[in-house]
Amino acid sequence: MNNSIQVINKYAIDTLTADRAQALRASALAAKHTLESGSGLGNDFLGWLHLPSSIDEQQIQAIEKSAALLRSECEYVIAIGIGGSYLGAKAVIEALSDHFAAYKTTAGPKVLFAGNNIGEDYLYDLMDLVRGHKFGIIVISKSGTTTEPAIAFRLFKEMLEKQEGKPFAQRNIIAVTDERRGALRNLATQEGYATYVIPDNVGGRFSVLTPVGLLPIAVAGFDIRALIQGAVEMEQEGDDQIMNYAITRNALYQSGKKIEVLANFAPRLHFLAEWWKQLYGESEGKGHKGIFPASVDFTTDLHSMGQMIQDGERTIFETVLSVGDQQHEVIIPSDGEDLDGLNYIAGKNVDYVNKMAELGTRLAHVDGGVPNLIITIPALTERYVGQLIYFFEKACGISGYMLGVNPFDQPGVEAYKRNMFALLNKPGYEEQSAAIQTRLKG
Ligand code: PA5
Repeated sequence: MNNSIQVINKYAIDTLTADRAQALRASALAAKHTLESGSGLGNDFLGWLHLPSSIDEQQIQAIEKSAALLRSECEYVIAIGIGGSYLGAKAVIEALSDHFAAYKTTAGPKVLFAGNNIGEDYLYDLMDLVRGHKFGIIVISKSGTTTEPAIAFRLFKEMLEKQEGKPFAQRNIIAVTDERRGALRNLATQEGYATYVIPDNVGGRFSVLTPVGLLPIAVAGFDIRALIQGAVEMEQEGDDQIMNYAITRNALYQSGKKIEVLANFAPRLHFLAEWWKQLYGESEGKGHKGIFPASVDFTTDLHSMGQMIQDGERTIFETVLSVGDQQHEVIIPSDGEDLDGLNYIAGKNVDYVNKMAELGTRLAHVDGGVPNLIITIPALTERYVGQLIYFFEKACGISGYMLGVNPFDQPGVEAYKRNMFALLNKPGYEEQSAAIQTRLKG
């Protein structure tokens, strides 16, 4: 496929790993077959697999219409959600936005996020910001019962109703949730909110191309059609790149590289890495197995984590998101006195320096025993971000099956919730509550 993201693994595999990768090809093909035939564990959560090519025009138009309404009536739109109901939208919006959009006057509302933590001061500060301003809410929860977004929604719903009145609130609150079940579905029906459905067969971390991600992304002013088009391209023609990534990372894992660090040299990609960490962490971290997904922002983190990557325990491999074109050019000026000694790069654009830092880092890390896998992205546009999303999703499904886990469940995330509910004396948790009190006293 021309004009698409590509995987380069020549800095990632030595002879031994190349042999392992070759041996893993059959396992990868079997995993791909398991995924595509729907014959594996978690096969009731494969709705994302052909999602890009099956999103219908009516749904896109409805999302665009809702987004236009929120854009015309609101100065701020608060997207409330956590995990898969938060990270995809946040990642795409950040990847495509002006870095300083929050401080600039822009057309349309600022999209802000809540319900992704339980920080009291965070909520206070956000309430303080939107007080006296017209705002809307997109509340997103598949289960409809997650504590973090439920608290945030209760606060902002009450605030909006008091501030702007019930009719405005009813018009400018949109719920994205399960078609039938859950507290949020019931509440939305009772209040008469517009709603969008998260399909039963799409899990949270694979849901960015459903209304979960598409609605906030459209409200932020981005072209969801181009985003979907990019994902369709990857769905239809991306298998070679996807397989290359899945096979290489598993070969490295078998060589003792237990940690994958996703590195970028583009500050816009910070949250793309956060989304990726959830996708791979929740999908693969099971049965005491799985590549630990970590991330760094370079060159910033070369001045902190760079030491550990270069010289620490040799259990790391690095996957670099390498972006081709920048949107703007900034030339380093010449200085008559050259007191800072920078005239040797005068006349060069800043990205040239960044690219040399990227290359220099790659060579240093490979020399230091950190294999480097490269994913090239032609530019940070809707189309290529769409490609990247689908690329990582399908590679994750294949990788999870290669590892021998169910990539589509997340039983481990319940443990903290049970303890928290017991500590909060939530009805139904009396027994756990008593057990925890005894444990804490002991
Ligand atoms: O990937 C997942 O399933 C989780 O991260 C969920 O998205 C997250 O816990 C939020 O769940 P919900 O959308 O039900 O509020």
